Amino acid sequence: MIETATIQKGLDVDAIRQQFPLLNREVKGRPLVYFDNAATSQKPQSVIDALINYYTSYNANVHRGIHTLAEEATMAFESTRDAAQQFINAESREQIIFTRGTTEGINLVAYTWGRQNIKAGDEIIISSLEHHSNIVPWQILCEEKGAGLKIIPISDKGELLIDEYRNLLSPKTKLVSVAHASNALGTINPVKQIIEEAHKVGAVVLIDGAQSTVHLDIDVQEMDCDFFVFSSHKLYGPTGIGVLYGKKELLEAMPPFQGGGEMIKEVTFEKTTYNDLPYKYEAGTPNIADAIAFKAALDFVKQIGKENIRKHEEELLQYGTKRLKEIPGLRVIGEAKEKVSVISFIIEGLHPQDIGILLDNRGIAVRTGHHCTQPLMNCFGITGTVRASFAMYNTKEEIDQLVSGLQKAIKMLS
Ligand SMILES: Cc1ncc(COP(=O)(O)O)c(C=O)c1O
Repeated sequence: MIETATIQKGLDVDAIRQQFPLLNREVKGRPLVYFDNAATSQKPQSVIDALINYYTSYNANVHRGIHTLAEEATMAFESTRDAAQQFINAESREQIIFTRGTTEGINLVAYTWGRQNIKAGDEIIISSLEHHSNIVPWQILCEEKGAGLKIIPISDKGELLIDEYRNLLSPKTKLVSVAHASNALGTINPVKQIIEEAHKVGAVVLIDGAQSTVHLDIDVQEMDCDFFVFSSHKLYGPTGIGVLYGKKELLEAMPPFQGGGEMIKEVTFEKTTYNDLPYKYEAGTPNIADAIAFKAALDFVKQIGKENIRKHEEELLQYGTKRLKEIPGLRVIGEAKEKVSVISFIIEGLHPQDIGILLDNRGIAVRTGHHCTQPLMNCFGITGTVRASFAMYNTKEEIDQLVSGLQKAIKMLS
């Protein structure tokens, strides 16, 4: 446990780092510098303990048993739903559907709401900076239904062109699906405005919160989004678990996603009636262990405080941007006014992958490539970037190591 008193004074990064056992390891004989947090964050001890505790003390299936272990497992599993509800300020716990993650959440909406509501001639709007998981499900749906996919363009800085967005909206628009924050550029999109405009034409809005939920305060009621999706593993929690939030009237009207146990009320060979929310969308044995440990991650973030985290990450973002820009030939890709702590860059004449390999030789983990945003890379006329993404446990000293690692890489590769 971290002392609350030290947290209130700001972020005690040393104390936080001690909570993450993996940060103690070395890579290629050097202390690890982990700057791949936008891909997945490291896990605090409390999350690891929650996983071990479930498997060593009360491993049982949920919802179905009356024995002690089943009751304990069910209680722990369901308490994550309460924690997630509070974390994003959903109206009720029934609106928190457990998924495998953001990708499954989006696909669930495409396969259920989408198949029920999208017809030939309808239009779906996404943006230029979407992750493939917020592009491909809509392409599949549009192809199947004969609907059109419209794309909000972006500026050179990587900000959505809101006037252009307004021009795309029409009575044909049935769905707008955009990222709250871009994984490749860090851009924070003006989602409230996007949602407001979409609602004026009667469109439903899905917000992809994969990159925002770890950095920003999320209030789905205030945002007024119709669907919100996010993943635990980018939020210091385990992989394989995430959340789909939806407005109740939409979730109630949608057909089920998968058929099987748990999602039914009554089954006969003639007819099946479906379970109430949220179970209607949770067929089969869920990912119990990871769901339970996800609560430990939400508690951890809550304890430290989003505001403290954001302040620290903002400092890292400013410092990192300034230091990286001192490197001759380096160009930052994505310079929106509002950003989460992600810096994407290219270096003239060098391939991102070569840079990534040389940084790894110095124990520095960055991501290189298209970041599952190939269309966005095309907008910038590049095939990929190097991306450094910061979390609450990163430090300015680590950024200095990145800068010196890059300087050495440039010397070696030029
Ligand atoms: C913006 C965004 N959307 C969706 C996803 C997909 O998330 P997941 O792989 O956890 O399903 C990611 C993952 O990087 C992302 O950054």
